Formats: sequence, C-alpha cells, structure tokens
Amino acid sequence: MLLHLKSSSSREMEKQEERGRKLLLVPCPFQGHINPMLQLASVLHSKGFSITIAHTQFDPPNPSAHPAFDFISIPDTFLEQQTSPENMIDLVLLLNAKCQEPFKKFLAQMINRQDPSHPQFACIIYDEVMYFSPAIANHFKLPSIMFRTSSATTFLVRAVIPKLHLQGCLPLPDSILQDPVPEHYPLRFKDLPVVKFGSEEQILRLMANLFNTERSSAIIFNTMDCLEQSSLAMIQHQKQLPIFRIGPMHKLAPNSTSSLLEEDTSCIAWLDKQAQNSVIYISLGSIASMDSKEVEEMAWGLANSKQPFLWVIRSSQKIASEWIESFTKDFKNSVGERGCIVRWAPQKKVLAHDAVGGFWTHCGWNSTLESICEGVPMICRPCYGDQNVTARYVSQVWKVGWQYENELKRGVIEKIVQRLMVEEEGKEMRKRARDLKHMVEASIDKDGPSRNSLNEFVEFITSS
Ligand code: UDX
Repeated sequence: MLLHLKSSSSREMEKQEERGRKLLLVPCPFQGHINPMLQLASVLHSKGFSITIAHTQFDPPNPSAHPAFDFISIPDTFLEQQTSPENMIDLVLLLNAKCQEPFKKFLAQMINRQDPSHPQFACIIYDEVMYFSPAIANHFKLPSIMFRTSSATTFLVRAVIPKLHLQGCLPLPDSILQDPVPEHYPLRFKDLPVVKFGSEEQILRLMANLFNTERSSAIIFNTMDCLEQSSLAMIQHQKQLPIFRIGPMHKLAPNSTSSLLEEDTSCIAWLDKQAQNSVIYISLGSIASMDSKEVEEMAWGLANSKQPFLWVIRSSQKIASEWIESFTKDFKNSVGERGCIVRWAPQKKVLAHDAVGGFWTHCGWNSTLESICEGVPMICRPCYGDQNVTARYVSQVWKVGWQYENELKRGVIEKIVQRLMVEEEGKEMRKRARDLKHMVEASIDKDGPSRNSLNEFVEFITSS
C-alpha cells in the first residue's frame, strides 16, 4: 500500500515536472515576428523545454526546419492578403478576431484530454501582436508571457499616442513634427510610431491592445541593456512586472532558420569576389517596399556611386514581379558584375560577410540588430511605425548610421553611399559600429546580462 502511494505521488511529481517544461508559443505570422519567436523557441529548447508552436494557417512556419518542435495549426485562420504597411492594421485586427475562438477550442481539447502524454503547458508565450492570447490563457488559468519582438523604446513611446489623441493632436500637425517629444529625447514627434494607415479608431484600439499587459505575468524583450537601458528602466517602473531582456535573440540561437521565402544564396558567391568592406547591401525587410520611381532613383544613385552593391527587390503591391524582372535585366546590363540583385537574400550571412561594408535599411528591428551584431554601419530609410524610432536611435543615440529623410533622389543617394563606403566619415562610422558590436557581444558572454536574464527567465517559468 505504502509502495503504491509512493509511486503514484512520484508519478504526479513527474507529471508536474513535465508540465513545467512544456511551453506553448504563439507567433505572429509576419517574417519580422516569426524569426525572433522561433529563435526564442530554440533558445528555450536548448534549456530543456519542449516546445509547441500554435500558428495561423496564414503564412505558417515550416515545421521541417524545426524537427524538435511540435506545430499546431489554429484552424480557420487562413487570410489571402499580402502583408503591406497599408493593410497592416486591418490584418492584425482580423487575425486577432479570427484566432480567438479556434484557439480557445484547441486549448480546451488539450486540457480536457487529461492524457499524461499530453501534459498541460507551464505557460503561453505570445507575440504582443497576438493579443487575443492572454485572455484565453487566463480562462484556462495558465500564465501568459508577452514577447515583444521589436524595440523597448517603441513599446514605451507608443503610450504617447493615446495622450496626443486626447489632446486633439492626431493626426499630428506639421507645425510640431520637428519638435522633441518631452521625456523621450532624441525622438521628435515625426519619429513617433504613428501608423498612418487605418482609421484613427482602429489605430487607437490597436495601440490599447498592444500596450495592455494586465493579464501578462512578464514581458520578454529582444533587446539589451547596452542599447536601451533607460527605456527598459522606464518600462520596468511603469509596468511593475518582471521584464526580461534576452537579446540579440538571433545570436543566442544562431542555427534557427525561419524564412518564409526562398533565399537566393547565389549572392554569397558574388560577395566572395568583392573586396573587404566594399559592398553596400540594400534591403527593406519583408513588408516595406519602394515604388517603381523610387527603384529607378535608387538604381541610378547606386550606379553613379561606383560602389559594388547587393540589392534585395521583392515584388509587392507597389511593384509587380514582371516589372522587376524586366527592370533587373536592363539595369544589370548597364552595371554588369558591379551589382547583384536578388528577390530574397540569406540576410544574416550577407551581413556577416567580410565584403559588406554598409547596409541601406528600413530599420526593422531584426535588420537593425543583425547589422549591429556584425558591426555594419547603416543608411536608415524608415518607412513606417517602429522603424522611425529605430532609425533615430541608430543615427542619434548609437551613432552607427545616418538617416536619409527626404525624397529619394539619385544625386543624394550617390553622395550618401560614397560618404559611408569610401569617405573618412564613413570609416569613423564603421569603427563606432565595430565598438558597438563588441558591447553587444559582451551581453551574450557567459556572464553577460542577456545570458543572466535568460537564466532568470528559465528560473521564473519553472518556479511559477
Ligand atoms: C516587421 C516590421 O516591418 C518591422 O518594423 C518590425 O521592427 C519587425 O516586424 P520587417 O519589416 O520584415 O519586420 O523587418 P525586420 O524586422 O528587419 O525583419 C526582416 C527579417 O527578414 C530579418 O530577420 C532579415 O534577416 C530577414 N530577411 C530580410 C531575409 O532573411 N532576407 C532578406 O532578403 C530580407
């Protein structure tokens, strides 16, 4: 009898332990969000957790690239739209509306199953954009943890937007755009992450949802103290929640791959033939794009700069595939071997390549971290939202890039590319970028702050 009691209680303990090591992650189906979430999944898996990814049917991740994880598709979440800044708010609102009920049913099934081989989860880690998750987690008495895939500063300054609305200052009048935002130096009003697309009511609803951490037990940021210490301290003060700064995530999980598009690796062989630090790499991430007029200005600016370049041009709502094909063919004939154009690059490998000496970027958070981690200085051309905040930090706080603010003109592009790639000022910028890279590297050293924060996070989920 005693023996029986002992074994059943030890089975219970084992079950509990297993539960404590099983995590459910809810990524947002956009490239700039899936990448860091799957990197976080790899990091936690390496710490002994088993990982289940609950994903939408819209732009799902590729399970075969992650054989160690379980993947569960949330039913009825297929959307046909292409992601673009113009429909971003609609898409996010729609995704949240569509996911809520199927996700609840799925969790109910998992919990009702009461099967020891399917223990309940220790917690749900959700992308902040998938804000339907915490209410459902709460319904099943599971803790939920927000994962913020972009910068801490953007998270912080978003709170200014509803205040501006209450003061009747939205949309922002031209007269204040250049003015500094009180308490948020060096941001100007024009740098605030106000998404121009969508109705004011939609924008405010979205902002309120994204900033709401009432039901979350903690927040994880893909960032580091050495980049955003004061913003993190202010968030900590406001939120009174455990805040974990575990970044740069792609360096903590170097082998994680989660590209939704096929990478054209031929550009690496092209880079191998170029001189050290000679190539400017141009990419605007997975959502932002140029229109055909901007592409032409960029093309002639690059051609006239006489620098080798690697340029990612994706098809988008602004430029069709056929136009890119014929433009690329003609343009390549004029620049020959000096230029390489691809539809999608293995970006992390590109930025790590010795030949790459500068990055023309839209300042998506992942691209910015990837550039900083390789010591590559930037020309910042933000397109919307958080990219404006990040571009300002790159140019004014970390001082590892310049921001290009006005209309794209070939003459100005030519000059700024030469300034970065060949002039003395550019060399100084590259030196600062290398110094910053070393500071960031120190974060993930054995006793660095990001490693420590990761260990604290593991302790937090296993003990709560
Ligand atoms: C989105 C938002 O637009 C951005 O503002 C936010 O900070 C994150 O979410 P996105 O615009 O795609 O992301 O930019 P970014 O954050 O830079 O993410 C793009 C990812 O795609 C990077 O990890 C980058 O390495 C990868 N990429 C990009 C490629 O692998 N190949 C490419 O050719 C271009």
